[in-house]
Amino acid sequence: MNSELRSDFPILARTLYNKYPLVYLDNAATTQKPRQVVEAMMEEYYNANANVHRGVHFLSQQATDLQEGARETVRRFLNAHSASEIIFTRGTTESINLVASSFGQAFMHEGDEVIISEMEHHSNIVSWQLLRERLGIRLRVIPITDDGHLQMSAYEQLFNERTRIVALTHVSNVLGTINPVCDIIRIAHDHGVPVLIDGAQSTPHMPIDVQAMDCDFFAFSGHKIYGPTGIGVLYGKERWLEQMPPYMGGGEMIKTVSFDRTTFNDLPYKFEAGTPDYVAATGLATALDYVAALGMSRISDYEHALTTYAIQQLSTIEGMRIFGPTEEREAVVSFLVGNIHHLDMGTLLDRLGIAVRTGHHCAEPLMHRLGIEGTVRASFSFYNTRDEVDTLCDGIRRVMRMF
Ligand SMILES: Cc1ncc(COP(=O)(O)O)c(C=O)c1O
Repeated sequence: MNSELRSDFPILARTLYNKYPLVYLDNAATTQKPRQVVEAMMEEYYNANANVHRGVHFLSQQATDLQEGARETVRRFLNAHSASEIIFTRGTTESINLVASSFGQAFMHEGDEVIISEMEHHSNIVSWQLLRERLGIRLRVIPITDDGHLQMSAYEQLFNERTRIVALTHVSNVLGTINPVCDIIRIAHDHGVPVLIDGAQSTPHMPIDVQAMDCDFFAFSGHKIYGPTGIGVLYGKERWLEQMPPYMGGGEMIKTVSFDRTTFNDLPYKFEAGTPDYVAATGLATALDYVAALGMSRISDYEHALTTYAIQQLSTIEGMRIFGPTEEREAVVSFLVGNIHHLDMGTLLDRLGIAVRTGHHCAEPLMHRLGIEGTVRASFSFYNTRDEVDTLCDGIRRVMRMF
């Protein structure tokens, strides 16, 4: 799938340390950007730059059309019912914080509960802890099994009359586990509880249909799906968003302002205070069009086959310990080898031109659960190849010989 596509990503042709072709396996942290995305943003800065929703002049109208066109592209990509359910944020983190803060203010009181899981990224833990500081809510945590699945029976038992929301990752950024979000949402809805899905690690790898999933909120980051940094999305069902107070105050989120009283703008602008990163919105829309043209199912099939190959090859290495489910997992493989510290492994692989992530991956509670400090994580994209997986395995063996 990837040979001709790789030329869309100039960075992949780099040689590191004057010697080693770059093998970029840190896609779960951020993906590389195709020329099309960078060029669309350049074109807007060069030829259509003006603040959006403010001017009567030609350029402002053009920039506004691009921004609202981008919103429609996101709507289509997620299969949301309406573009007013698409809020541009700075990324998954801001989207989750928005829900925690705003939903919390509207619907939660001291003693109320949020259900999260043991495999959450810090952004879906700390946001709720901040709300706990503000309101005195409680965090209830779904435990995981040793092979990295949610314990579904424990999940069901966490519900009680104080449960107000479930906030859960779709795909673990460490284990690659694909959570059964449809079941999770159905169970929550049976208890009359809405669900926020953290789609940071699922959106780049599989088709997403928020209506079929029936989630109440869905968050993802542009930079993890071949778009620019600094932009992300919060999808929310209109009926929730309408009842939630604004997250930030400022320009564009108001209808009228006086010193006594302010009335707020309609959705989605109520949640978009200040000048938005409208150029990044264009970049994000271009990235979504790019992957949509490749086909999300095709991307998913290719990456699953590559991940299966990677797990097979990595498993042949002596002392290899791979974390997470053995089957049905996303394109993320976390591992440790013998007694080699993850940081040493990552640093030495880097000297061979191989970019992997090391550490706790912003999931410290999960590390505690696994009884480890951190892992080495290789994460794949459709532009990665089997040759690169082989280079990774050779690199690991080379590092092992140094110890
Ligand atoms: C599962 C998950 N949630 C949330 C985030 C936060 O994303 P961002 O830093 O783009 O806001 C990440 C980033 O790694 C992630 O993997």
